[in-house]
Amino acid sequence: MVNAYYPNLFKKGHIGNVEIKNRIVRNSMGTYLGNPDGTVTDRQIKAYAEAADGGAGLVFMDNATPVPMASCGLRADLDTHIAGLSLLADAIKSHGAVPGMQLAHPGRDAGFVGSADVIGASAITFEPGTKLAPNYHVRYQLMKFTI
Ligand SMILES: Cc1cc2nc3c(=O)[nH]c(=O)nc-3n(C[C@H](O)[C@H](O)[C@H](O)COP(=O)(O)O)c2cc1C
Repeated sequence: MVNAYYPNLFKKGHIGNVEIKNRIVRNSMGTYLGNPDGTVTDRQIKAYAEAADGGAGLVFMDNATPVPMASCGLRADLDTHIAGLSLLADAIKSHGAVPGMQLAHPGRDAGFVGSADVIGASAITFEPGTKLAPNYHVRYQLMKFTI
């Protein structure tokens, strides 16, 4: 099938050595279907299997935080989360799509969402009156999340 306006839409694409069957991406969207502790639920697995069945080549799974915090998304800060995330990824792969993961560090508003891991590019607080200023001296911490 060729779309007159987007002739490459249904052509294979590559990100590095990962082949994607078309150029359609299901962007990151917090589904609020996860458990409050950030672990994966059966409803979430079903929802992403259906999303992948819709035909997108790349399907992002909610968003996942690399630090412990209350979140609307998933958690990827502990090895114990790997099994659930793998099930989610497998559900997407079983429909021929590539699973994607958005890592969502809360940055300078970490305190607002219940994490002590407040980091940022400068010591500017999330909002006036917030006591926790970002630990901007520790550049290594920022680098950890960007590699
Ligand atoms: C319920 C909901 C949750 C979303 N969650 C995320 C998210 O976790 N990460 C993100 O980068 N964007 C998130 N978005 C933004 C979407 O991925 C998308 O960029 C946005 O909806 C614009 O695309 P659209 O015009 O096709 O709706 C969310 C949007 C909605 C409606």
